Amino acid sequence: MRTPVVAGNWKMNGTRSSVASLLQGLKQGLQPGRTEVLVCAPYPFLNQVSDALSGTPIRWGAQNASQHESGAYTGEVSVAMLQEFGCSHVILGHSERRALYGEQDDLVADKFCAVQRAGLVPILCVGETLEQRDAGDTVAVVEEQLMAVVDRAGIAAFADAVLAYEPVWAIGTGRTATPEQAQEVHAALRQRLAQIDESVANGLSILYGGSVKAANAAELFGCPDIDGGLIGGASLDAEEFIAICQAAE
Ligand code: 13P
Repeated sequence: MRTPVVAGNWKMNGTRSSVASLLQGLKQGLQPGRTEVLVCAPYPFLNQVSDALSGTPIRWGAQNASQHESGAYTGEVSVAMLQEFGCSHVILGHSERRALYGEQDDLVADKFCAVQRAGLVPILCVGETLEQRDAGDTVAVVEEQLMAVVDRAGIAAFADAVLAYEPVWAIGTGRTATPEQAQEVHAALRQRLAQIDESVANGLSILYGGSVKAANAAELFGCPDIDGGLIGGASLDAEEFIAICQAAE
């Protein structure tokens, strides 16, 4: 039985006071269950998040990390720093980082390895653009993104990782993939890994991301290969996020 995971990706949003009330809402409203719940905050809020959430079952992570250990890399944040703030997870290869900051498969693979070396859990994101979907290339595109990391890190690394399928055309657009569309890609990703190691493939939590909200979460999470969600906009609203976590139960 795979552990359901619901992760909030706050992206570049929040103030100290909005973060305080969001965390307060989550602490008060979230019922303990079998779902692993985490929030991925912008770096400046990690101290606040770690103070507010320590001793609760809610975990926290970051949205990116450097592939380097330390040194002259202005503006970068190392995995050791994230570890010191109690981060458990790091989102990697998000389509916004791929599209807006030129992150390519090689770099994503380097970051994945750095995160795992530090004992944190990478949340590896893959996803196709609308043009790629329309051209019938969805599965080929996401498998290539996945295999670039498998080839570098090895299949065993996926025993301690989370995979997220986020179709680019569904992110922040209000246009969610249908459960059938998402399930088809999740199953293809799992099958691709199963060709190499069936037990790793069967144990891997694969999250769906892209306009998930309370109203569509249960239907998506009900699919056999969808093990939870990576939530953007709806994770900024405590009530909405809690409802999504409940749907994962
Ligand atoms: P939205 O839920 O806002 O569409 O964002 C999804 C996402 O990119 C999560 O990483």
